[in-house]
Amino acid sequence: MTSLDRRGNPCSSSSETARAAAEQALWRMMSQYGTPQAELDAAAAADPRWALPQVMQAGHRLGLAEPGLVDQALAQLQQAQALAAGATARERTHIEAVQRIAEGRWHDACRLWERLLLDHPRDALALHWAHLWDYRLGDAWSLRQRPARVLPEWDDSDPLQPQVLALHAFGLGQCNLHAQAEDEGRRALAADARLPAAVHAVAHALALQGRFDEGTGWLRQHQPQWAEGNALAGHLWWHQALFRLEALDTPGALRLLDLHLGGDAPGGTPQRVDAAALLWQLHLLGEDVGARCRALLRAWAPPAEAVGCHVVHDLHLVLALLGAGEVAAAERRVARCAERALAPAHARRSSHALAREVGLPLMRGMLAFARGDAQAACEALYTLRAQVPRLGAGPAPCDLVDQTLLAAATRSGQRALGRALVNERRLAAPLSPLARHWIERLGSGEQARA
Ligand SMILES: [Fe+2]
Repeated sequence: MTSLDRRGNPCSSSSETARAAAEQALWRMMSQYGTPQAELDAAAAADPRWALPQVMQAGHRLGLAEPGLVDQALAQLQQAQALAAGATARERTHIEAVQRIAEGRWHDACRLWERLLLDHPRDALALHWAHLWDYRLGDAWSLRQRPARVLPEWDDSDPLQPQVLALHAFGLGQCNLHAQAEDEGRRALAADARLPAAVHAVAHALALQGRFDEGTGWLRQHQPQWAEGNALAGHLWWHQALFRLEALDTPGALRLLDLHLGGDAPGGTPQRVDAAALLWQLHLLGEDVGARCRALLRAWAPPAEAVGCHVVHDLHLVLALLGAGEVAAAERRVARCAERALAPAHARRSSHALAREVGLPLMRGMLAFARGDAQAACEALYTLRAQVPRLGAGPAPCDLVDQTLLAAATRSGQRALGRALVNERRLAAPLSPLARHWIERLGSGEQARA
């Protein structure tokens, strides 16, 4: 029997208990407070014939991009498919889209969710998932425009409406509309103070406008809302550490890393990715991060043959190996990634296409840098710069590549290249102490212009 959920979306469960539990799970998925598993179990228990809680379980686990959760996610997807005959067309489209994600066909999944959103602009699940995979695909335009296409259809009184504002704020920032992103993020927080995604969007906007001290204060101000019980906590600690790094406060960045992102910290792969990125940047600044990289690798402990769910994970694992001085192990991992990405059976998988076209050449540039061939690193990384946003994960991989290029340019005496990179920063935002550090390292000609 078809009924309607609280936003008027067709729904195949008539159990109010099941629908209320699924709604609470949806809030958890969007807000990232806790995990939605218990509520989804409760929804399935209240209405065992309802497919939606099963597909929400599967899609949530696949969205975490943890290799260890994939088998469980596939089993739950099968359960959803077994119940699909009783589902509404909207719910069946969700099952089909999550199936596409399981096959690694992220663009196809986003197209299915887009079609759903045209007919059901208040389908928060479709918006949440499409946004997540837009992010993984580095699709800045969709990160901005997909929430914009539905936002006017949402009522201010809907408890999830501030979540949509936060998605829109993040998308505006990804399109370099930082002042608008900041306004939208603040508007979202005014509507709901428990919104770490909006805190995050504003932190990005402040960072990319060069307002690093304000960023530190902003994260500190909202810390009670994000630092406990939220999956974004590790990432926001990482942003706080990056603000310290821009101030060239390396002891401060290391302290935050050790307290919140170190080898033993909980948080899974995304947090380890952030820790590896920060350690690599500290390594570029001459810090001895070998022991910390080894601790991170012990906690990460991927099976020898496993390759991450996303090429961004592989890239950061390679950086952690290089930071630990394990160049041969890093070379073996890059070779393994190449084997997977080039296998004909994986040709249609979005992550492997990104690996072939961007990730692998990038990893090889990083390997050249670690081997001491700064000239080759400059050539590889500079050629790739414009492609790096395709890796997703926001502006972080771009900054990682630029910092490596600045280090390689100083090592190989390529002052013109270094100057070009610094000029970009000069026009984008006031120069930070970190940018001035590279100017000093590039030589006296640049110092005079700093
Ligand atoms: Fe971020």
